[in-house]
Amino acid sequence: MEEGSHYRPAPILTSVDRWQTHRPGSPVAVPENIRTRIRDRLLGILFSQTFDIVDRGIGTPADVNFGCQVALGFRKGPLDLMRDMGSHDVKRIMKKFAKERLGFPAAAKPFASYQKFRRFILVDDIDGVKVITIRRPQSMNALNDELTAEILAVLKESAGDPAVKGFVITGYGTAAFSAGADIGKFPEMLGNRKASAQYARDCAKVQLFMDRMKKPVVAAVNGYAMGGGLEIAIRCHRMVATRTATLQFPEITLGILPGIGGCVVPYRRWPHAAQLFNEMICFARPLKAAEAAERGIVAQLADDFDDLMVKAVQEVNALQGNVPRLAKGKLELPPIHLPDEPRAGSQALSREAVAITIKTVQAAAAAAKFADALEIGYRGFGEIACTEAAREGISAFLERRKPVFKK
Ligand code: COA
Repeated sequence: MEEGSHYRPAPILTSVDRWQTHRPGSPVAVPENIRTRIRDRLLGILFSQTFDIVDRGIGTPADVNFGCQVALGFRKGPLDLMRDMGSHDVKRIMKKFAKERLGFPAAAKPFASYQKFRRFILVDDIDGVKVITIRRPQSMNALNDELTAEILAVLKESAGDPAVKGFVITGYGTAAFSAGADIGKFPEMLGNRKASAQYARDCAKVQLFMDRMKKPVVAAVNGYAMGGGLEIAIRCHRMVATRTATLQFPEITLGILPGIGGCVVPYRRWPHAAQLFNEMICFARPLKAAEAAERGIVAQLADDFDDLMVKAVQEVNALQGNVPRLAKGKLELPPIHLPDEPRAGSQALSREAVAITIKTVQAAAAAAKFADALEIGYRGFGEIACTEAAREGISAFLERRKPVFKK
């Protein structure tokens, strides 16, 4: 009641002893015009509350949008819904709502001004180091285009700022640094060689920018770093990890390959561990943080998240003026044997997909120029995306079943 009498429950709520309701999720036939009215009303109250929370500084736009997804199970946050609808529709709904529900808060600023926030990352400052946290825990911090664009924008904004010593990239929560590229996006490009290779090329923008940076970027791996997530972590200039972290390229279990530098970069950064990378890339062998540290792939191990941040910042300081570059020239790789029935643990793999992966890894190693090696990786992704294995592997993941590869 402190908020105002418009929050008083409607009389109809107290007019009935027992409500007969439908089971949640069961369909109810409602005529189109009533359906639209109900939808507009529900959106009206949702948007009104969203504007109020933001205008009164109770929560930031990023937090309201995120909170609705992780705490209330919304598929999209209210500010995402507004963005998708467009300001014309939002205006229409709010106008109607204001007439029907007197006293409820309305937007205090133009609609567009509520959309200026980062949806998928947090940015903090620790002793002159920008800490970028990938925040999409509902999808294990999987990457999408908007998320990587947000990371790139922060790197670009602060790359020339003398007050910034460097960057740390980490993941929100304790489960994952990032479980890779958003697998939900794959079906639209499968079967199209050119589009798939271009997708891999386009996804590499953060990595290509980091290759040229003078300020260090350190990956603070706090859980699973898989696929595209691992392709970001290994491209950072150094990695630190919690003891419980796991690094893995699971792509081959999906019938695809790591196309955003994954078939190229590990060998050029840590050539002494080439045999290990053969197993990781062609047979999805997981690598625990402790072993990665023993092999010199991870610089320091941390006991918990706080310790991880301390060590990541130490590494940024240690790399001042000394950012490592990737090795140029051709590489000699240990041979990779293609088994008759390749497996990743208990999972049977597609022999055809493994053969394409081996061919891609070897061709990339034989390229004298790093840029050419990356291009071989993008094209390898384009090739494998046209196999039956890729279609089966991706469908199986999205349908939550084990894939059955025919060849
Ligand atoms: N892309 C899109 N969504 C992903 C994802 C990805 N790479 N990784 C995880 N998710 C989603 C899951 O679909 C699930 O969504 P839902 O709750 O809407 O069903 C949610 O994140 C939680 O994942 P879940 O698999 O239920 O968690 P888990 O603890 O059982 O397993 C992993 C964690 C990381 C082992 C598992 O999610 C996984 O194998 N992910 C795919 C990793 C991969 O193949 N990456 C390479 C992509 S190229």
